Amino acid sequence: MTTTPLPHRTLGRTGPEVSALGLGCMGMSALYGEADRGEAIATVHAALAAGVTLLDTGDFYGMGHNELLINEALRTAPAADRDRALVSVKFGALRDVHGAFLGYDGRPAAVKNFAAYSLQRLGTDHIDVYRIARLDPDVPVEETVGAIAELVESGHVRHIGLSEVGAESLRRAAAVAPISDLQIEYSLISRSIEAEILPTARELGIGITAYGVLSRGLISGHFSRDRELGAGDFRAMSPRFQGDNLDRNLDLVDKLREIADAKGVSVAQTAIAWVLAQGEDIVPLIGARRRDRLAEALGALEVTLDAGDLAAIEKAVPADAAAGERYPSAQMAHLDSER
Ligand SMILES: NC(=O)c1ccc[n+]([C@@H]2O[C@H](COP(=O)([O-])OP(=O)(O)OC[C@H]3O[C@@H](n4cnc5c(N)ncnc54)[C@H](OP(=O)(O)O)[C@@H]3O)[C@@H](O)[C@H]2O)c1
Repeated sequence: MTTTPLPHRTLGRTGPEVSALGLGCMGMSALYGEADRGEAIATVHAALAAGVTLLDTGDFYGMGHNELLINEALRTAPAADRDRALVSVKFGALRDVHGAFLGYDGRPAAVKNFAAYSLQRLGTDHIDVYRIARLDPDVPVEETVGAIAELVESGHVRHIGLSEVGAESLRRAAAVAPISDLQIEYSLISRSIEAEILPTARELGIGITAYGVLSRGLISGHFSRDRELGAGDFRAMSPRFQGDNLDRNLDLVDKLREIADAKGVSVAQTAIAWVLAQGEDIVPLIGARRRDRLAEALGALEVTLDAGDLAAIEKAVPADAAAGERYPSAQMAHLDSER
């Protein structure tokens, strides 16, 4: 683990101050195959002990499993670590008994229902940042955000976030209530926010919590062509992990590795440090579910990329270099951010 205190960043003009890296807990319950529960909880404890203060979850990650895991991890953490922790929760995804995704519900009554259940599962009286995971196409963003604003007024939510929305929705939401941060995919190989969304967020004073900073492990330096992925693993269906696309993307990782090796750091640390270097308003969410991966990720905070390093990285992995879209087409269709 790092030996120096973690640097902090503030989420937007109105949001909380958080550690410069947050811990994304999704993979501890879902989407990347089996995870070891004991190791996952130990990873949350290690993150808190190292100074990470932001934990990210969704009520649909393992259909409540992830919130219950965070509840247990916080209950069993030292009080000082627990008291510093902020929990960011996504809601809105509807699922059936088999776990299939059925769509999104952003109606005000649904927002309040989702929040009531999350508070119960988390064992807390408030959620630090609350956001719908994907906009409900049948409900104006103003209504969904307005419902969260009422939860802020009643003290059950501290800050309002957004997830995977485009510039126009950012503006409409910000006109209703202060927005702390937009959670959105951003990495060396997922750079679509740079054209319009990031400048708009900056203009509006909205921070970015970046996910998929390692492109779900693809650019971590640990992913190999022969890795077997189980049926429930998102990556088994993700275009970037298939056939020729995977080969081309791993070729990019090889180029990144040359730069990382020359600096004496790991590929994952280089990829995380690149996102950190894109602005003080960006907080990468690290999807570590094991303590060794967490330690590696936190090491990125000690990596400085100078102008020469950034230029070399840009040359090795140009902005549009990735092969394949970041989601399967059915899921791309839910992304307001890609319209
Ligand atoms: N708002 C949204 O739409 C949305 C979508 C997705 C995720 N999120 C949030 O963002 C968080 C992060 O996303 P993500 O998990 O896809 O991000 P990620 O950090 O790109 O990928 C995490 C995966 O990378 C692999 N990895 C290899 N080395 C690592 C290292 N040193 N540190 C961390 N991971 C390493 C791990 O796989 P192995 O364990 O197999 O090695 C891990 O499962 C999620 O947990 C979730 O909270 C939000």
